[in-house]
Amino acid sequence: MADLRSDTVTRPTRGMREAMAKAAVGDDVFGDDPTVNAFEAHVAELFGHEAALFTPSGTMANQIALQLVVPAGGELLAGADAHVVTYELGAAALYGGISTRTWGPDGAALDAERIAAMIRPAGYPSVPTAAIAVEQTHNLGGGGVVPLATLRHLRAVADAQGVALHCDGARIWHAHVADGVTLAEYGALFDTLSVCLSKGLGAPVGSLVIGSRERIARARLIRKRMGGGMRQVGILAAAGRYALDHHVQRLTEDHERARIIAEALAPFGVVDPEQVRTNLIPLDLSKHDLDAPALAARAAERGVLISAMLPRVARLVTHLDLDDEAMDHAIDVLSELLANP
Ligand SMILES: Cc1ncc(COP(=O)(O)O)c(C=O)c1O
Repeated sequence: MADLRSDTVTRPTRGMREAMAKAAVGDDVFGDDPTVNAFEAHVAELFGHEAALFTPSGTMANQIALQLVVPAGGELLAGADAHVVTYELGAAALYGGISTRTWGPDGAALDAERIAAMIRPAGYPSVPTAAIAVEQTHNLGGGGVVPLATLRHLRAVADAQGVALHCDGARIWHAHVADGVTLAEYGALFDTLSVCLSKGLGAPVGSLVIGSRERIARARLIRKRMGGGMRQVGILAAAGRYALDHHVQRLTEDHERARIIAEALAPFGVVDPEQVRTNLIPLDLSKHDLDAPALAARAAERGVLISAMLPRVARLVTHLDLDDEAMDHAIDVLSELLANP
């Protein structure tokens, strides 16, 4: 069996489970969990920010951050293919009263000047733009990495126009190892970030919101209001700490396997290996006889699980639990299916 549906399918390793079992815990809603407190401080420091807050999911981390930087009735600018726009089920409008306007879809190929031109000032009759959200790496953008120069340009735009910049950094670790940009360099460019421990790092659950002390104090209240206050959650923070200490640098292996898969499938005209920068491999089936659900169904019959993202786009994802044997099996099965539709 080779499971390439998502990097969220990874399971905690033995070392991680041992760290979880040993974690000192307390009631985190009272601020009493020493493992959570230390972990939040550690992650804040990694990104050069004052504070961080542990949340159950990346979606909750994003939504808390958006409420921090956009007041109800204010506007968020984001890519039409951003996770906060597509997969968070209208949460920004529902929970934050946030109005969202989109660019693109451009994946990771952002045009900072175009985004700058979209910003609306406060005052009748327009909805004032309060923040811009960027995704690093870009999920629907095929794991693309937004270049550091583009982010710097956007930061300058945000400063000049007085709007905040949020990073949906669910896979910012992947960008960090792919481009060699430090987490602190990324951190310095954003007012708020969300980061995930459950995407390819082996942790069973957990994300963080990162920002200033004042913002994270507000985030704590928003999290509680959203039902995300957790109790002896040091067990999960210990898994997150283990993931960051042991499973970030090894992401280069996942990126290398993704490149090998892309090169093996390139002759079928479904993927450009040059575009595969991290651990996500989108397959463009627009010119192929098999559509994405058909390819996924036939691959599953042979023990290879992949995702049909759109009718003509399938996605393969490499991760901690996908070794060379599983990779080779996936290449063999997918090559055969693509050659004989
Ligand atoms: C880019 C991005 N942001 C946020 C999330 C949300 O994470 P969660 O599933 O933990 O809510 C995901 C999930 O895959 C994601 O890919």
